[in-house]
Amino acid sequence: MKSVVVGFGGALPQKCIKNDELPASLNTSDEWISQRTGIKQRYVIGEGESTSTLATKAAKEALDFAKVSPNDIDLIVVGTTTGDYTFPATACVVQKNLNITNGCPSFDVSAACSGFIYALDVADSFIRTRKAKHALVIGADSFSKILDWNDRASCVLFGDGAGAVVLKAEENTDKGVQYCKIYSDGSYTDFLITSGGVATTQASGVVTMKGREVFKFAVEKFCDSFHELLEQNNLTIDDIDLVVPHQANVRIINKLIDVLKIDSKKVVVTIDKHSNTSAATIPLALNEIKDTISTNKNIVLLSMGAGFTWGAALIRM
Ligand code: UT7
Repeated sequence: MKSVVVGFGGALPQKCIKNDELPASLNTSDEWISQRTGIKQRYVIGEGESTSTLATKAAKEALDFAKVSPNDIDLIVVGTTTGDYTFPATACVVQKNLNITNGCPSFDVSAACSGFIYALDVADSFIRTRKAKHALVIGADSFSKILDWNDRASCVLFGDGAGAVVLKAEENTDKGVQYCKIYSDGSYTDFLITSGGVATTQASGVVTMKGREVFKFAVEKFCDSFHELLEQNNLTIDDIDLVVPHQANVRIINKLIDVLKIDSKKVVVTIDKHSNTSAATIPLALNEIKDTISTNKNIVLLSMGAGFTWGAALIRM
């Protein structure tokens, strides 16, 4: 049994802030942000928008694309660390918003920027073990709500968004999720962490980050997990048609291109338009390129986030 990706969707908030529209008090510049990160703009939620509204919009788009009706969904997994509520899960709010009344399990996974690949691995496991036939897998975050807007080293990097895919169980196919491996190393918890939480400060806290260390770790783990993926699937770099890495910094992506010696045209970059939308970067990027993905293509997804968590997946379209 395989999990075939049959639908893609994405959602961004209405408000877009370009680099030169950031507050002057931040003492930053379009030049610094563009050169050091590749980011040109970010979207941030406003009134009436939240992680669940973005997740719902992306999910609806993915269901429409897949021509799957909401009540045929029998699993919803949302990768997020910025849900609307401490509980219930954002996945349950999405289930309500989509009027899914069939009682399917709906839950969130917390793996920060690796949330989508973690959610994909969980949903793929449900499908492979015949516990689900149609799964909605969403990556959604609203980091604008947990940023220290006085810390130029972190607040310029992130934005809000959501992306979704629909997975369908299919037998006797060479399409679908071929491989998905997720990892974590908790000894790095302090390197990328919020300054509080429900059981400590009774507030979410704000993002704090050792940027340079995160950068180095991301490059190393992108490359290691990519090599492991190739080895485990008996593939070479030439067998890969597209790479969709987590979008944290274009310089991390360029290092990946250098180390792997992969054609840069095969590597999807959306950070200029979306900034780092945490768990949403990969499904949002997939949504951007959905009309250009033809059949029989091998697509590699790579992620890295707080925890540290990281992961790699191989999808065949
Ligand atoms: O999804 C995972 C989460 N995050 C990441 O993956 C981020 C990974 N890390 C990075 O992308 C980069 O390390 C950063 C973009 C965070 C920082 O870039 P960097 O090239 O490593 O800069 P740096 O931290 O070494 O700082 C260089 C200088 C410093 O000034 P001094 O001490 O040299 O005078 C900073 O104060 O750049 C300064 N700086 C800024 N200047 C203008 C830091 N942020 C800004 C800013 N605008 N926004």
